Amino acid sequence: ILLNRCHYALAIQHYSSSIRPPIPPFSPSSINKSSNVTQTFDTMLDFRRQQARRTVLIHLGRSHSESELYKLCSRIGQITNMTLYTANKKECALLEFSNEQSVNNLLKITSHFTNENRLPCASRNLYFSSQQTGTRLKYHPIGREVQQPDDSIIDKSLNDIRNVSDQIRFFWQKTKLTELDTRLRFFVSSLVEEAFGSIFVDTVCLPFGSSVNTFGKSRCDLDMLLTFEDFREKNIKRDGKIPQLRFLTKRSYLNDRFQAQAYLKILADTLKHFMAECTNVQIILPARVPIVRFQHRLSDLQCDVSMSEFKSSYYMSKLLWNLSSIDNRVAPLVFAIRRWAREASITQSTPGPWFSNFQMTLLVLFYLQSIEILPKLNYINEQPTTTSPQDILAANVLGDLSDDTILMNELENIRYVQSNKTNNSSLAILLKGFFTFYENYDFQSLLITLLNRKNMSKSSLIQTGKDKDWPIYLENPLVPSMNASKNLVESEGERFRETCKKASEILSHSSKNLLSLFEECHQILPDDLIARAYPAPISIMPDLETDINQDELTTINDIQQDQVFHNTHQQH
Ligand code: CTP
Ligand code: MG
Repeated sequence: ILLNRCHYALAIQHYSSSIRPPIPPFSPSSINKSSNVTQTFDTMLDFRRQQARRTVLIHLGRSHSESELYKLCSRIGQITNMTLYTANKKECALLEFSNEQSVNNLLKITSHFTNENRLPCASRNLYFSSQQTGTRLKYHPIGREVQQPDDSIIDKSLNDIRNVSDQIRFFWQKTKLTELDTRLRFFVSSLVEEAFGSIFVDTVCLPFGSSVNTFGKSRCDLDMLLTFEDFREKNIKRDGKIPQLRFLTKRSYLNDRFQAQAYLKILADTLKHFMAECTNVQIILPARVPIVRFQHRLSDLQCDVSMSEFKSSYYMSKLLWNLSSIDNRVAPLVFAIRRWAREASITQSTPGPWFSNFQMTLLVLFYLQSIEILPKLNYINEQPTTTSPQDILAANVLGDLSDDTILMNELENIRYVQSNKTNNSSLAILLKGFFTFYENYDFQSLLITLLNRKNMSKSSLIQTGKDKDWPIYLENPLVPSMNASKNLVESEGERFRETCKKASEILSHSSKNLLSLFEECHQILPDDLIARAYPAPISIMPDLETDINQDELTTINDIQQDQVFHNTHQQH
């Protein structure tokens, strides 16, 4: 008994020290210019993906049973991290082992319920039922993750901070993704990868967008890209020999889009019928980029999986991550401006003819380039060309971005580019500067671009009879001459400028601060625009009994293509 107690005490001691979340290994926003930057976007992705594979997520059937759980799991392997949190009123533990084999060993001793009608499907979503009877364990849940507070609580604290720059940094600290948020996002991606990988070989599922580009706010959605090989390693040469022994396999559809739809339908079915904790599975096939949308209950994450063959979402995330890592003022400024934009109804949580968070981020980056805090992208050769936008689209979007060596080098190296001048402006000055910059911006004739263009006029871009003179032109930095703001209407550009003017006036008063900015710029969306919100995406999720065949899919596409083109997935 004594030995057992000693062992137990040691376990708890180890537990207390080890379950505190370690200092996040990657925090690009905290890297400043002088630091020795060795981590890259890809090493961050690889590290997080490996970490996720060593991790299990456990729903504790009973509160305060984490010590018991820890004791059980530490018999299986060394635990590197255990974090407790509550999601949907459920006590959960995200538990990371030091190696993947321990996860396999744990799964070997895990079984499915025998007293209920449950499908015999294994996953790393687990349930722990405590065997302790009588009094509960009195150990406190030391590793409990404190969730990011609500905006109202943050605002109260902001009131106590006098300096606007400090307010901006505090706001960013309190709203950005936490270590647990990031771990959960990579964990859910690894679940999707595993579920799909049980059917198709070489499946890779990468998070992208705000989950990884340093601009993610706690509780933002999880965007994932599903693909079949690690395309990032594409350039590693294979020996070129045809293997003697090969799998007999089925033919794929010749049409990539149709094949992607077929894959996503299988994914949706797998998640809906077999994957524990994945609920509200919807499949939105006719969108420009088809997606599977679902809710992962134990992490409380709203997830979108897409299968774009040109992986631009990955490259875009890499670009934003790199730009953010150049200067530690970038992310805090983006957070403050996104909150202001939300308060002023410049952005909305639903898609429509207004700005999105992503577009707002591009505006901030463009402004920071204009004052030489960030470098411009130099990979384009700005030659006048007669190529039509359709040709450019075919060459860049439908082609493979990773074949563009110059662009790839630029994406790798941009974070090492030092600007010539040193701009040490405080965050408060940058915030005010953003508003004065855009209150006067001539959206009618000028474009917004992260590329190093000598000629910034909209008309300098190829305009054919078919292409529209878009009211606002936010150039897609990965696909030159493509407008990433086609959804915006002219009146929104005007409203944005007016609200910037108002914001700039507010910040001219020394008595005003970040809170006054949020409060005084608060407005609701004009009525005429509310009516122009994009319709909710049409979701197709067949029941178990029915099945969509090829013909039906084609018909659905034809009928709904136009309608759905304008929905949320236009952005993707
Ligand atoms: N994206 C893009 N081009 C667009 C829209 C989106 O390349 N026109 C990519 C960007 O990498 C973006 C990602 O898709 O970050 C996800 O889009 P979305 O979810 O709309 O934006 P997030 O950046 O994830 O922001 P949010 O926090 O609002 O989800
Ligand atoms: Mg997103």
